[in-house]
Amino acid sequence: MGKRIALAALLVLFCFTVGNIFAEGASEKKASSAGKQIVVGVSVGDLRLERWKRDMDLMVAQAESMGAKVYSNSADGDAKLQLSQIENMLTKGINVLVCIPVNGKVLAPAVEAAHRDGVKVIAYDRIIEDSDLDYYITFDMLGVGKLQATYLLKKVPKGRYYLLAGDKTDNNAKLFREGQMMVLQKYIDNGDVKVIGDQWAEGWLPEKAMKLTENVLTAVNNQLDAILASNDSTADGAIQALIEQGLAGKIPITGQDADIAACQRIVEGTQTMTVYKPLPRLAKAAIEFAVNIASGKEIKTNATYKNGFKDVPSVNLDIYAVDKTNMIDLVIKDGFHSYDDVYKNVPAKDRPPRP
Ligand code: BGC
Repeated sequence: MGKRIALAALLVLFCFTVGNIFAEGASEKKASSAGKQIVVGVSVGDLRLERWKRDMDLMVAQAESMGAKVYSNSADGDAKLQLSQIENMLTKGINVLVCIPVNGKVLAPAVEAAHRDGVKVIAYDRIIEDSDLDYYITFDMLGVGKLQATYLLKKVPKGRYYLLAGDKTDNNAKLFREGQMMVLQKYIDNGDVKVIGDQWAEGWLPEKAMKLTENVLTAVNNQLDAILASNDSTADGAIQALIEQGLAGKIPITGQDADIAACQRIVEGTQTMTVYKPLPRLAKAAIEFAVNIASGKEIKTNATYKNGFKDVPSVNLDIYAVDKTNMIDLVIKDGFHSYDDVYKNVPAKDRPPRP
């Protein structure tokens, strides 16, 4: 009998303690939105690419300026790892999740897991498909492809084009291609543009892009007039292949992201253009959203995006085509890169005046 009472007492104590732990957990989240430091979880698809390092640094700085803290992880291109990293972050206790998916098709379970914990999810640059996603902060992705193709057509109105896209599992890679084709198709149909190669670089990695380009160059005996590369990391790989063949600077090639290395290549003449997507504005918007959500403030969006499940409230930011002629006005004056970094390898006498 005595044993039974002791057991019952233990049970009561156990329930009380567990109840308290849960109650504490729940009030933790509320407390953080009402005074405690806000924690934003940022799950980055792949920090190996310069583009995302830049985003990450900007987000951390923006969070600090708003008194919030960032927990971050890089999945290094591994979609499964990303899901478990997010689950981990949720157990650590974040207020809002900002996510750059490796593969937006398989990340709906992360949105569900976050929602179970009362955590809202903001997709950053890449959408999370077929999910009850809360917000999407992005650029005009079709517009990127259109800018690239329009620019290249001005340089090479007729000729042999090699199309070098990004990772097939990245929805954006498809949108860039779609945008490119909106402009290019008519010239392919009338025979002005002949597509002599069409490749997708796994993980957007320069080494993959380099290999693919080497193969294309061999297959066509170096006979090509233009490369429509979807971003700067693929352009990087393609340019390395062109260098091997003594063709760098002779074949116009596009890009995207205004990576520092790409901006240097542009002013040095081996890359023709890039698309500048003002990352400081994207990072700022994402963190402001996260902090406002955690503080229960009103959120304003300017677009919606269909993700297969719903029209996701979105923010769509503008993009810009950048080449040698407007590098200073668009990239340097915006504070994205410094004049000294961009013109690092250009002899002083050949540099444009410092702004
Ligand atoms: C982004 C690009 C980036 C690419 C590779 C895309 O989803 O929109 O800016 O270059 O991924 O990381």
